[in-house]
Order: sequence, then structure tokens, then C-alpha cells
Amino acid sequence: MKSKGKSRLPGFHNRSLAKRLEEISRRVTKPGFGADLTLEKADAMIENAVGVFCLPLGIATNFMINGVELLVPMAVEEPSVIAAASNAARMARAGTGFLAQADPPIMAGQVEILDPSPGAKERLENSVDEIVRLADSVQPELVSLGGGMRTMAVRCDIGEPGRLVVHLHVDCRDAMGANMVNTMAEAVSHRLAEIAGGRAGLRILTNLADRRLARARCSIPFEALERKGFPGKDVALGVSAASDFASSDPYRAATHNKGIFNGIDAFLLACGNDWRAVEAGAHAFAARGGSYAPLATWQIEGSYLVGEAEMPMAVGLVGGASTAHPGAVACLDLVGVECASELAQVAVSVGLATNLAALAALASEGIQSGHMQLHGKKQALPADTEGIDSE
Ligand code: MEV
Repeated sequence: MKSKGKSRLPGFHNRSLAKRLEEISRRVTKPGFGADLTLEKADAMIENAVGVFCLPLGIATNFMINGVELLVPMAVEEPSVIAAASNAARMARAGTGFLAQADPPIMAGQVEILDPSPGAKERLENSVDEIVRLADSVQPELVSLGGGMRTMAVRCDIGEPGRLVVHLHVDCRDAMGANMVNTMAEAVSHRLAEIAGGRAGLRILTNLADRRLARARCSIPFEALERKGFPGKDVALGVSAASDFASSDPYRAATHNKGIFNGIDAFLLACGNDWRAVEAGAHAFAARGGSYAPLATWQIEGSYLVGEAEMPMAVGLVGGASTAHPGAVACLDLVGVECASELAQVAVSVGLATNLAALAALASEGIQSGHMQLHGKKQALPADTEGIDSE
């Protein structure tokens, strides 16, 4: 990650829109920051295009991730999300900031084999080298960049005795990888079916990218959590109790995780990434234990509140809208990430931040006063005079 300058910008929210844009544009070398997509670009991106649909783009301040200061672009229609992210990032940097890491960019493609003959699993497992060669042969560019198929797993009796599923594990480097993995899965499916003595069914990646997890952690001293007449220690205890509630109740966990995706989706959308894929993977991951669970948890350690988030994070810096949408290219430039794994680290940290902001509010004055105050300001004030009390 390469810092583009300080992320602590006191009073940023009180500047005019033009001044804010000036400040941000200074840090971006790619053109197109904050500009609308042209009709021509829109027409080239999707089918039957008739226009472009804009969302507000804002900047969350105060982020410090692995010791690097960065600004977080967010495309979102909901007031208070960006203020919440900025506010939580300010609390976090009073402690460790966000400490994040991500697994190597391994995605899995699934090839379904129906009615395999006896001994199929063993025969398939003995043909890994051949399948790797075949899969890599249809993605030479990925291989030249150091990626490609790595391993294979054979799963038997999935749902019924006659269904076997082969997973192709592919290192996608800086791409999200869906297209590459799907191409590979289609290319090897005939041969897999032949070896298995069955017939090929579906061939598509799984969005449950559980070999591509991202994690973030932060440790915040109690005093940094103090707010509106609530002592920091009480807020910390309230956040930790809210986390326990989410761990015990899927109804609460769903809302808890929605607060996490307030941040992640807005960030990924601004960066031209497929947030539906990330949502699908994360929700499946949240249910992996048999009951739907929170994707981030909080606990007390001494006089610190410690938060941790972990989830699949299949994101990319190349391909799709991250390359085709000039606004997304400029947002990625602003963030300063140099590989997909760093993008994943920022995304999971932003999710931990919006989760903290929501829980801290819920555990103290409640969510509505701040939310409605900001909502009211958004409706009532001209765009260049509004203020968000996030700094
Ligand atoms: C609202 O957009 C998100 C929250 O409901 C999240 C939560 O309850 O944790 C405030």
C-alpha cells in the first residue's frame, strides 16, 4: 500500500464540495475522479444501455491500515455511512489502526460430474498434473504473470450418490478471476468426465472463496471510545455485548453483517468490483457452522476493545469495471493499493470500521439520533454547506 498523503483531514466535511474535490484530485494521477461514466462507455460495458445511473461518491477519512494512511472512496446512497466509517477509523487509529492481511488470491472453479463409474475419485486424483496443464493452456497470460491452476480437490456424493464435484484451485493474481476460472472449468470438464467415466454437469466458479480470506483486527483504548456523555469503558462493554448478541442470534447477526457491508459494498462499488460476489461468499461463509454468524466480533482485552473480522474477499485490480470504468480506476489510484490482496485488506478493514460505528452508536445513544440528524441535513442543506460531524 502506498500512502497518497495524510488521511486525517480535520474539517474536511466543512469544506465546500469544490474544495474537497480539489484536495482529493491532487492525490490522484488517473483522470476521471468523481466524473460520470460517458454514455459510450456505458454502452460498451452492458447490453441495451439507455443511460448511466449515478450515486454519490464520498471519501471516508482517518483510515490507517497496516500503518499506512489512506483515504477510502465510497459510492453509496445512504447518509451517515461515510461519517460512520470516518468516525470509527478515527477511534481505531487511537489504538493500533487496522491490522489486515489476506490469503493468496486462490479461487475455486467447480466441475460437476454426474454418474461417475466406480474408482472415479482415485483416477481423478491421479490426473492432477494433466488437468493443471490443460487448464493452464487456456490462460497463458495468467500463467505468464505467475498465476494459474494450483491444485485439485475431488468431493464425492454431493447431495446424492451419483454427483461428484471437482474443485480447480486457481491463483488469479490481481484479478477477481471469475472469467478465467470459468474458462478453465469449461476447458477441462470433458476430460474430467472422461476420466471419471461420467458426464459433465455445471462448470462455474464458487463464490464461497474460502481459500481467499481477508482479515482485519484493531485494538482501541477505552478512552478513545467515549462519546456524547457515555464513558469509553461503557461503550466498549456495550460493543462487546452487542457482538455476543450477534453470535447468539441469526436475526441480529444479519443486521450486524448488514452494517459491515454498508462499508464494504460502498467501497467495492467505488472501485468497480463485484460486490454481489463478495456478499454471496461472505454470507455463505457466515453460515458455514450451520447457523448464520457475525463476520466481525468484538471483545474486551484489559482496557482495550478488540475487534476482528474475517471473510472471503474475491476482489481485483484488473478486469471488469475496475479497468473499464474511469471513475473506478481513479478511485483505486486514490486508495494506493498495489495488488488485489491489498484491496482485500482495505475492504475488510472498512467493514470492521462501519461495524464498530454501528455498534458503538447502538450501545450508547442509539442509531437514530445521528442518522436522522445527517439525513435531515442532507435533505435540507445545499450540497456545498452541509456538514458531517465525523472528525
Ligand atoms: C444500518 O444501515 C446498519 C445497522 O443496522 C447495523 C447494525 O445494526 O449493526 C445500524
